Amino acid sequence: MNETNVAQAYKAKTLREQQAAYDHWANKYEPDLCAMGYRVPSVISAVFTRFVSENAGSILDAGCGGGIQSESLSLMGYRPIIGIDLSEGMLSVAHSKGIYSELHQMTLGEKLHFDDDTFAGVISAGTITPNHAPASSFNELIRVARPGARIVFSLRDDPAQEPQYPAALQRLSESGLWREMFVTESFFSMPYGEPEISHRVHVYEVA
Ligand SMILES: C[S@@+](CC[C@H](N)C(=O)[O-])C[C@H]1O[C@@H](n2cnc3c(N)ncnc32)[C@H](O)[C@@H]1O
Repeated sequence: MNETNVAQAYKAKTLREQQAAYDHWANKYEPDLCAMGYRVPSVISAVFTRFVSENAGSILDAGCGGGIQSESLSLMGYRPIIGIDLSEGMLSVAHSKGIYSELHQMTLGEKLHFDDDTFAGVISAGTITPNHAPASSFNELIRVARPGARIVFSLRDDPAQEPQYPAALQRLSESGLWREMFVTESFFSMPYGEPEISHRVHVYEVA
């Protein structure tokens, strides 16, 4: 039952519960989400190709899950793509697709095990969201991205969104750490399963 898995992932109170929810769901996640008409991967990868060129350099997929959003980037020639995720189960699905040059278990919201200025572009789909990766994740994504790199991510845009996420965008802009380049219209992201959930895709350029 799809809604149960989505609800469980959004209800997790601790990192351990979150990891367990996705480990449990990993092999059914993609069929479930596709049946719900999950649109974030197609929208975010289309936006990404407008703002990051395929020969820019290393791409970080932050909260890669099973990798749906990076499949189209790989088909378009983006290399190398490095994926990170909390869930070993989701990383295992991503590994099976053969599109990532590296996959690592890492936690957004904690220090990432990459040097400063490593990535030419960052994509993060469906992950920086309540009860998943916290708004503080952006600071580390900015640190590991090169100056001028674009960070492309989805954020919820419905009443269940928590105010710390939009507040972080504004705070980081006011601090001069990045600047907003583009944001999509709001769109229903799982219309056949969770019709009340909407998202926007945002693009920021690292200073
Ligand atoms: C809704 S899924 C999105 C997966 C994929 N990006 C997609 O759009 O299909 C959320 C993913 O975030 C991961 N996740 C949740 N909290 C995380 C955190 N703090 N750090 C890293 N990954 C996290 C989960 O394991 C899961 O794979």
